[in-house]
Amino acid sequence: MYFDFKDPQLRTDRFAYYRHFRENDPVHWTPHGYWVLFRYDDIDELLRSPDASSNFPANSDWARARGGPSSPVVRFTSKIMLLQDGAAHKRLRRVVGKVLSRRVVDQFRIRVPQIVTELLDAAGPGEVDVMSTMAMPLPVAVVCELMGVPSEMRPRFRAWTAPISQVIDRSVSPANLIEMNRLAPKFRALCLELIRDARAAPPVDTLISAMVHSLDDTGAPYTDDDIVATVGMLFIAGHETTINLIGNGLLALLRNPDALSLLRANPDIMPTAIEELSRYDPSARFAARLLTSDVKIGGTPIPAGECVFVVFDSAGRDPDRYPNPDHLDLTRTGVKSLAFSAGPHACMGKTLATVEAGTLFTELLHRYRTIELASTNPPVQEHWHLQMLASLPVRLTP
Ligand code: HEM
Repeated sequence: MYFDFKDPQLRTDRFAYYRHFRENDPVHWTPHGYWVLFRYDDIDELLRSPDASSNFPANSDWARARGGPSSPVVRFTSKIMLLQDGAAHKRLRRVVGKVLSRRVVDQFRIRVPQIVTELLDAAGPGEVDVMSTMAMPLPVAVVCELMGVPSEMRPRFRAWTAPISQVIDRSVSPANLIEMNRLAPKFRALCLELIRDARAAPPVDTLISAMVHSLDDTGAPYTDDDIVATVGMLFIAGHETTINLIGNGLLALLRNPDALSLLRANPDIMPTAIEELSRYDPSARFAARLLTSDVKIGGTPIPAGECVFVVFDSAGRDPDRYPNPDHLDLTRTGVKSLAFSAGPHACMGKTLATVEAGTLFTELLHRYRTIELASTNPPVQEHWHLQMLASLPVRLTP
């Protein structure tokens, strides 16, 4: 049996599908031309390996499938930190690290509850769709405030980056290709307006301002291309995944009433609970790397040049790492979920995402005596690497 991203079992019973490979062929080669890792330790090892590259835009097959190296979308992605290695990656990671500093995140510990209050006041009691009223607007507002994107631009940011974000999908359809290359220049023009305004204003704590007013480790300024790519990436990385942490996390709690009661009685366990929820049902399912040298993973040799996928939701259910992995246990200690990746590209927004989801769950439990699912099987949105709900209808009773 070969792993296939199109296998219907990935939609109907993905954890059983992963279990099969984890138990029988954990370092798996497929005739589609790539490898897939399923065990926690193997995935952790690959993500930390100096022989694992994220620089897909430099790969000629990858670039050609997206319109070639001169296409707007490949030029955009070739500057994205998520898809760079070594020094080029570090110079961007450093400036993003400044913006996601403890001091700035502490400011959001005050700001996030204000946004949550506004959203919950507007959603009100009764039957409510959590995805459209809370899970989506909260992370969009937070990441836009973090970057310095004014509210009137946010709908365009979301509408234009959604097709562009599909550039990292495993394969790109001809219609997608045209759409993302049509939107990349429009998105660039919008960002250039913000960059121009930030250059003319004194420095503030936002990403655009920080990139405009600081120099990289070689003393050179960040270019417009660096800033456009980082803004686009941070917007996508900062909201799509957090939406799903909120949606999938709340769904898991509602399907496990004992866990929900435990959290209601002990809101102080929230950070541990969020770590466990992201192990149990991670919002990002896969990541990929290109090998720059021959490596041995779990005893299996894999040659240089091969593409290797890692399955985060299989790592989270690996019994060699987590006893009784299919049980949601909010008191589980030492989780260290790989849902936020590991190694040089480990997620930089984990604390912020935890503050957002944790604040929302705490406030929901505080306001509502009962929270019930209004649909036993909320619809799932088709997306190859995100585990996404299309809607999450609940009944909120004060
Ligand atoms: C539940 C929420 C989130 C999840 C599950 C998540 C997951 C991830 C994963 C899996 C990666 C690495 C992918 C790889 O290794 O190829 C990543 C990278 C990243 N994430 Fe997150 N993320 C979340 C929220 C956020 C937020 C809120 C921000 C910022 C506002 C953020 C900023 C970043 C950045 C900047 C990177 C790139 C790091 C690099 O390339 O060095 N993330 N995230």
